[in-house]
Amino acid sequence: MTQRVILATGNESKVKEIRAIFDDFALELLPQTAFGLESPEETGRTFVENALQKAVFAATQLGVSAIADDSGIAVDALNGRPGVWSARYAGQGATDDQNVDRLLYELRHVPDEKRTACFHCAAVFVHSGDDKRAVIAEAIWRGKILRERRGIGGFGYDPVFYDVGSMKTGAEMSREEKNIVSHRGKAFKRLRDLMEDATVWI
Ligand code: IMP
Repeated sequence: MTQRVILATGNESKVKEIRAIFDDFALELLPQTAFGLESPEETGRTFVENALQKAVFAATQLGVSAIADDSGIAVDALNGRPGVWSARYAGQGATDDQNVDRLLYELRHVPDEKRTACFHCAAVFVHSGDDKRAVIAEAIWRGKILRERRGIGGFGYDPVFYDVGSMKTGAEMSREEKNIVSHRGKAFKRLRDLMEDATVWI
């Protein structure tokens, strides 16, 4: 039987990436925007806290199970910033372009060998708004920050995030290529495996 689960994000690019991962899973993922729901303000100090906040909020509001993620980029030369602030790096309501511009500006004097960074993703599933058995998975994606944008795909910091293994930026990869190596792809595959083990939800 196919179970309906809310995907607690308003980010259309994330919806596409996450749906592709659950493609062969007996799960109908419905974005919260289909119900006119917006994400709550993120007040957590960690990716896991923020992901749980989003999932619990959607599950409580809509009375169903929910999946959510929280992600961001931690740049080594910036001591891990912007981290959980990645979406708001250039200010509240900043666009992807503004965030990337700020990052490139802050790193303008940082030499190539010190431009290492890491995407983080926490993916969570809650059965209900007061779930005491939340399923949680995390993953990271290591790479380097380029000096200028490359590629037109993806979102966020993808155009300047260089994957050394494939020699492509996130914005030069297809959705399938990105899901194999990315923080979100790996975290949601782990989440899917854990959900399969946690037979309580089926
Ligand atoms: P969230 O929606 O609160 O998880 O914010 C995550 C922010 O981190 C996004 O707005 C992007 O700026 C950045 N980010 C997270 N994942 C990715 C990715 O896969 N590619 C590029 N940027 C990302």
